[in-house]
Amino acid sequence: MMTERWGRKGARLVTAAVLATPLVALASGPVRAAVPLGEQLYKSNDCVTCHAVNQKLVGPSYVDIAKKFAGQKDAVATLVKAVKDGHVGTWGMVPMPPHPTLSDADIKAIVEWILSLK
Ligand code: HEC
Repeated sequence: MMTERWGRKGARLVTAAVLATPLVALASGPVRAAVPLGEQLYKSNDCVTCHAVNQKLVGPSYVDIAKKFAGQKDAVATLVKAVKDGHVGTWGMVPMPPHPTLSDADIKAIVEWILSLK
Protein backbone atom coordinates (compact mmCIF):
# COMPACT_ATOMS: atom_id res chain seq x y z
CA MET A 1 0.00 0.00 0.00
CA MET A 2 2.74 2.43 1.01
CA THR A 3 4.70 1.52 -2.05
CA GLU A 4 1.78 2.17 -4.35
CA ARG A 5 1.10 5.56 -2.82
CA TRP A 6 4.71 6.61 -3.07
CA GLY A 7 4.88 5.20 -6.55
CA ARG A 8 2.04 7.40 -7.75
CA LYS A 9 3.33 10.42 -5.87
CA GLY A 10 6.79 9.79 -7.24
CA ALA A 11 5.52 9.53 -10.77
CA ARG A 12 3.62 12.80 -10.38
CA LEU A 13 6.69 14.52 -8.97
CA VAL A 14 8.85 13.25 -11.80
CA THR A 15 6.32 14.40 -14.38
CA ALA A 16 6.14 17.86 -12.80
CA ALA A 17 9.92 18.10 -12.63
CA VAL A 18 10.40 17.04 -16.24
CA LEU A 19 7.89 19.64 -17.37
CA ALA A 20 9.43 22.27 -15.13
CA THR A 21 13.07 21.99 -16.02
CA PRO A 22 15.06 20.89 -19.05
CA LEU A 23 17.88 19.88 -16.71
CA VAL A 24 15.78 17.00 -15.39
CA ALA A 25 15.10 15.88 -18.94
CA LEU A 26 18.85 16.05 -19.48
CA ALA A 27 19.48 13.75 -16.52
CA SER A 28 16.96 11.17 -17.71
CA GLY A 29 18.26 11.27 -21.28
CA PRO A 30 16.28 11.45 -24.50
CA VAL A 31 12.72 10.48 -23.60
CA ARG A 32 10.98 10.45 -26.96
CA ALA A 33 12.26 9.46 -30.36
CA ALA A 34 10.33 12.45 -31.74
CA VAL A 35 12.86 14.85 -30.21
CA PRO A 36 15.18 15.99 -33.05
CA LEU A 37 18.74 14.63 -32.88
CA GLY A 38 20.14 18.16 -32.64
CA GLU A 39 17.94 18.93 -29.63
CA GLN A 40 18.95 15.67 -27.94
CA LEU A 41 22.63 16.49 -28.47
CA TYR A 42 22.12 20.04 -27.18
CA LYS A 43 20.56 18.63 -24.02
CA SER A 44 23.22 15.99 -23.48
CA ASN A 45 26.13 18.45 -23.86
CA ASP A 46 27.20 21.57 -21.97
CA CYS A 47 25.21 23.86 -24.29
CA VAL A 48 22.27 23.82 -21.84
CA THR A 49 24.34 25.56 -19.16
CA CYS A 50 24.67 28.68 -21.34
CA HIS A 51 21.88 28.52 -23.94
CA ALA A 52 18.09 28.29 -23.85
CA VAL A 53 15.78 28.21 -26.85
CA ASN A 54 13.82 31.38 -26.05
CA GLN A 55 15.85 33.19 -23.44
CA LYS A 56 19.30 34.72 -23.19
CA LEU A 57 21.42 33.00 -20.52
CA VAL A 58 25.22 33.33 -20.63
CA GLY A 59 24.94 33.00 -24.39
CA PRO A 60 22.29 34.25 -26.84
CA SER A 61 18.98 32.38 -27.17
CA TYR A 62 18.83 29.89 -30.00
CA VAL A 63 15.86 31.69 -31.54
CA ASP A 64 17.93 34.90 -31.70
CA ILE A 65 20.81 33.00 -33.33
CA ALA A 66 18.40 31.43 -35.86
CA LYS A 67 16.99 34.87 -36.73
CA LYS A 68 20.40 36.51 -37.05
CA PHE A 69 21.72 33.82 -39.40
CA ALA A 70 18.48 33.22 -41.35
CA GLY A 71 19.10 33.26 -45.08
CA GLN A 72 22.90 33.23 -44.87
CA LYS A 73 24.02 30.42 -47.11
CA ASP A 74 27.19 29.70 -45.13
CA ALA A 75 25.38 29.82 -41.75
CA VAL A 76 25.85 26.11 -40.94
CA ALA A 77 29.59 26.11 -41.66
CA THR A 78 30.10 29.42 -39.81
CA LEU A 79 28.27 28.25 -36.71
CA VAL A 80 29.82 24.76 -36.66
CA LYS A 81 33.23 26.44 -36.68
CA ALA A 82 32.17 28.87 -33.91
CA VAL A 83 31.02 26.00 -31.65
CA LYS A 84 34.07 23.85 -32.45
CA ASP A 85 36.72 26.58 -32.00
CA GLY A 86 34.90 28.84 -29.53
CA HIS A 87 33.69 32.34 -30.33
CA VAL A 88 33.46 35.87 -28.97
CA GLY A 89 32.43 39.28 -30.26
CA THR A 90 29.23 38.68 -32.22
CA TRP A 91 26.90 38.89 -29.20
CA GLY A 92 29.10 40.65 -26.65
CA MET A 93 32.38 40.23 -24.87
CA VAL A 94 31.53 36.93 -23.11
CA PRO A 95 33.35 34.12 -24.94
CA MET A 96 31.93 30.70 -25.79
CA PRO A 97 34.53 28.04 -24.97
CA PRO A 98 35.69 25.67 -27.75
CA HIS A 99 34.25 22.14 -28.08
CA PRO A 100 37.15 20.11 -29.47
CA THR A 101 35.76 16.72 -28.38
CA LEU A 102 32.40 17.07 -30.16
CA SER A 103 32.38 15.61 -33.69
CA ASP A 104 31.62 17.91 -36.63
CA ALA A 105 28.60 15.73 -37.42
CA ASP A 106 27.15 16.19 -33.92
CA ILE A 107 27.78 19.94 -33.95
CA LYS A 108 26.20 20.17 -37.42
CA ALA A 109 23.07 18.37 -36.15
CA ILE A 110 22.77 20.84 -33.24
CA VAL A 111 23.39 23.86 -35.50
CA GLU A 112 20.79 22.69 -38.05
CA TRP A 113 18.29 22.28 -35.23
CA ILE A 114 19.12 25.78 -33.90
CA LEU A 115 18.64 27.30 -37.36
CA SER A 116 15.23 25.59 -37.62
CA LEU A 117 13.97 27.50 -34.54
CA LYS A 118 13.45 30.93 -36.16
C1 HEC B 1 30.16 28.69 -21.15
C2 HEC B 1 28.97 29.12 -21.87
C3 HEC B 1 28.66 28.47 -23.22
C4 HEC B 1 28.57 27.15 -23.54
C5 HEC B 1 28.86 25.95 -22.65
C6 HEC B 1 28.12 27.08 -24.90
N1 HEC B 1 27.97 28.34 -25.41
FE1 HEC B 1 27.37 28.82 -27.30
N2 HEC B 1 27.73 30.78 -26.90
C7 HEC B 1 28.10 31.31 -25.67
C8 HEC B 1 28.33 32.74 -25.81
C9 HEC B 1 28.73 33.69 -24.70
C10 HEC B 1 28.09 33.03 -27.17
C11 HEC B 1 28.25 34.40 -27.87
C12 HEC B 1 29.65 34.43 -28.56
C13 HEC B 1 29.88 35.66 -29.40
O1 HEC B 1 29.47 36.76 -28.97
O2 HEC B 1 30.47 35.55 -30.47
C14 HEC B 1 27.69 31.78 -27.82
C15 HEC B 1 27.36 31.68 -29.16
C16 HEC B 1 26.88 30.53 -29.77
C17 HEC B 1 26.45 30.44 -31.14
C18 HEC B 1 26.44 31.61 -32.16
C19 HEC B 1 27.86 31.82 -32.66
C20 HEC B 1 27.99 33.02 -33.55
O3 HEC B 1 28.95 33.06 -34.36
O4 HEC B 1 27.16 33.95 -33.48
C21 HEC B 1 26.05 29.13 -31.36
C22 HEC B 1 25.52 28.53 -32.66
C23 HEC B 1 26.26 28.43 -30.13
N3 HEC B 1 26.77 29.30 -29.19
C24 HEC B 1 26.00 27.10 -29.92
C25 HEC B 1 26.44 26.37 -28.82
C26 HEC B 1 26.38 24.93 -28.74
C27 HEC B 1 25.82 24.02 -29.82
C28 HEC B 1 26.92 24.59 -27.52
C29 HEC B 1 27.14 23.18 -26.95
C30 HEC B 1 27.90 22.27 -27.79
C31 HEC B 1 27.31 25.82 -26.85
N4 HEC B 1 26.99 26.87 -27.67
C32 HEC B 1 27.87 25.90 -25.60
C33 HEC B 1 28.25 30.61 -24.50
C34 HEC B 1 28.29 29.21 -24.41
